[in-house]
Formats: sequence, structure tokens, C-alpha cells
Amino acid sequence: MTTSCNNDPFSARSADWDQSPRRLRLASDVLEALQRQVPLKPSWNVLEAGCGTGLVTLPLSLEVNSILAIDPSRDMLSVLETKTRGRNTITIRQTDLLELGTGNCPEAPFDCVFSSMTLHHIDDTAQALETMAGLLAPGGWLAIADLDSEDGFFHDDAAADVHHGFCREKITAMIENAGLHSPLVTTAATIDKTNRAGKQQAYTVFLATARK
Ligand SMILES: C[S@@+](CC[C@H](N)C(=O)[O-])C[C@H]1O[C@@H](n2cnc3c(N)ncnc32)[C@H](O)[C@@H]1O
Repeated sequence: MTTSCNNDPFSARSADWDQSPRRLRLASDVLEALQRQVPLKPSWNVLEAGCGTGLVTLPLSLEVNSILAIDPSRDMLSVLETKTRGRNTITIRQTDLLELGTGNCPEAPFDCVFSSMTLHHIDDTAQALETMAGLLAPGGWLAIADLDSEDGFFHDDAAADVHHGFCREKITAMIENAGLHSPLVTTAATIDKTNRAGKQQAYTVFLATARK
């Protein structure tokens, strides 16, 4: 799992990341779930943790005032950079979420802290949630999309060091332990794919929201 900027398992996949219809569909479904569950406002300043190539970042940026888009992967961010030229609402920064405390994030606090399909790549889930909660303004919204508990065959790379999704009850408890209230977990998307075991499988993705 990623714990620092020196580890970039996404480098080799960055160039063709946006070519996958499955990923485009997932980003669209996650954005729709976000729009249903969070009252996005044009005045909002948003942090997106693990923005990757910006599949959600770009359409989301049309609905808010600004997005600070962070990711430790230089190559994923390079793809995003080519797509954001001429837009001044998206600020891109190469950093690990866990290195982004309130002390070294001048843009904080945020009206919304969002991530999609990133949490399962971070070893210390509780620390990640606490970091995100700490960057929120009072009343701000946390919104996390990620895999429900899966069979361990979702990732094509058997050596991928990831969480195999999350149990909704545990995520809810961790969100509350991070000091947030009114947690709500809904189903945002279903990913139909042939998994590493060669089996056609449906993997559900949740959207967990909560307020500070
Ligand atoms: C599966 S990709 C998802 C990218 C994008 N959110 C999307 O939906 O297309 C996971 C992303 O999380 C990033 N990531 C991994 N560990 C991270 C960390 N500790 N802090 C911030 N981002 C991280 C990876 O570099 C990668 O770009």
C-alpha cells in the first residue's frame, strides 16, 4: 500500500487509465451518487484525495469553486495536468494524503473532502479518515467512495498490497471515531468485471458521507 511519494504502483497504468469504459462509468456513477448525497454548492472549496487522472475531478470542478487535487503518483497527475490546462479552479499537488495535515495545507479547511477508490490503497485507514476529518471546516462534508468487502480477486495484480474493500459497519465506526457525525452509506455503483480468478463478478462500490 502507498505510504509515501516514492512508491508509485500507478505509474505504468497512467497513460491508458482513461481508456477504460469501466472506469469512466464508475467515475460517472460516483459523481451522480455524490450529487444525490451531498448538497454541493458553487461556493465550495473541495479537497480530492487520490484524484488520479481526474475522472471525477474534472466534472466535479464545474459544480464547485475550487478543488485541490492531490495524489502521490506523478504520472497519474501528469495526465490530469494535460486535461486541466486553462482551468484555474483545479490546483494539482503531488502528495500523500497522510502527509497533508492542517499545518501544511494552506487551503484548509475545506467544505468537502472527497475520495474515490483511494482508501483501499492506504494502509492505515483510520489515520486517513482522521486526516480527512481534520482538514474539514465545521459543518463540512466527508465523502468516500470505495469497494465493499470483496473476494480478494478484484485487483488484477495478485501482489497488489491493498485492502480487499471495506465492511460498511467498520467504515461507519471509523468515521465516527474520527469525530464526524450523521454517517450515511449507500451503494454508488456496481463494477461488473472478469476478476483475477477468471470469473465474471459484480463488485459494489459504496459512498460514505458524514458531517463535521
Ligand atoms: C484506483 S486509483 C483511483 C483514481 C481516481 N480517484 C479515479 O477514480 O479514477 C487510486 C489513486 O489513489 C492514489 N493514492 C494511493 N495512495 C494514496 C495516498 N496515500 N494518498 C493519496 N492518494 C493515494 C493513487 O496514486 C491512485 O491515483
